[in-house]
Amino acid sequence: MSKITKAVFPVAGSGTRFLPATKAMPKELLPIIDKPIVQYAVEEAVAAGITELIFVTGRNKRAVGDHFDANLELEAQLMAKGKTELRDMVRNIVPEGVSCIFVRQPEPLGLGHAVLCAAPAVGDNAFVVLLADDLMQGTELPTEALVRAYAKKPQTVLSVSEVDPKDTSKYGILKPGATDSDGLISVEGIIEKPAVDKAPSNLASFGRYVFTPEIFDVLRGLKPGAGGEIQLADAIDQLAQAGKVAAITNPSRRYDCGDKFGYLTAIVDVALADAEYRDRFLDLLRDRIAQTAH
Ligand code: G1P
Repeated sequence: MSKITKAVFPVAGSGTRFLPATKAMPKELLPIIDKPIVQYAVEEAVAAGITELIFVTGRNKRAVGDHFDANLELEAQLMAKGKTELRDMVRNIVPEGVSCIFVRQPEPLGLGHAVLCAAPAVGDNAFVVLLADDLMQGTELPTEALVRAYAKKPQTVLSVSEVDPKDTSKYGILKPGATDSDGLISVEGIIEKPAVDKAPSNLASFGRYVFTPEIFDVLRGLKPGAGGEIQLADAIDQLAQAGKVAAITNPSRRYDCGDKFGYLTAIVDVALADAEYRDRFLDLLRDRIAQTAH
């Protein structure tokens, strides 16, 4: 069994929830202060040992490619001004030894279809999938945990967390089986966005997955599911029913940056965790709370 070196980032989604900001700009480049959302996901993958980044893009996403491409003109300008730290930061957005591949999803036919578009670039290898909207913060991040779980037992593994039972219709929800002594949960099925009374549990799958290449065969045979789209969760469900899927608990804190309030929460928490802003930002928040109390 070989090490996982490939990560797929489906970044073709339109981002209508963030209009007008996303009229001309990909939602994945919305910044958390000064770093685009998608860069957090890339850093998480690279920290887990990934060396090939495969972006599945769509219309209006060229800027994602530009962000991860070298910008020699900018680097030269920064050097000429003696701004070496900034130059190094820009240069190391994709560290040495890590490469990028861009694949187009020609039509928005769903997350499962987007992952299938990456098949030629992935080949016959296990790989991870990261949904950039789900931003993770913590000392241990889920991609590393997934890669480790796969190394112990090579199979499809999902990163999951408990959600408020009234929110099951927002997520892929697990039908969990037994949990072993390592905390590996066997998955008997997964339902995409079930209504509260149809949810088999309150364990939700969140934007981080490790797959064996078998997922591509299942995706190729799938009919459109919820919303007329090829759903990744439907493919996972088929594998789960054959006893081939496990889950582990997400070890980190997750922010839903596909949602405006989740995005705002991520900005607040990242600012509070940053030595440069923390004290001033806390003063500002205290001041605003005092003002609204009157
Ligand atoms: C996607 C997946 C869903 C998952 C969710 C959160 O849905 O289809 O199974 O629970 O991401 O990671 P989306 O939020 O893109 O509609």
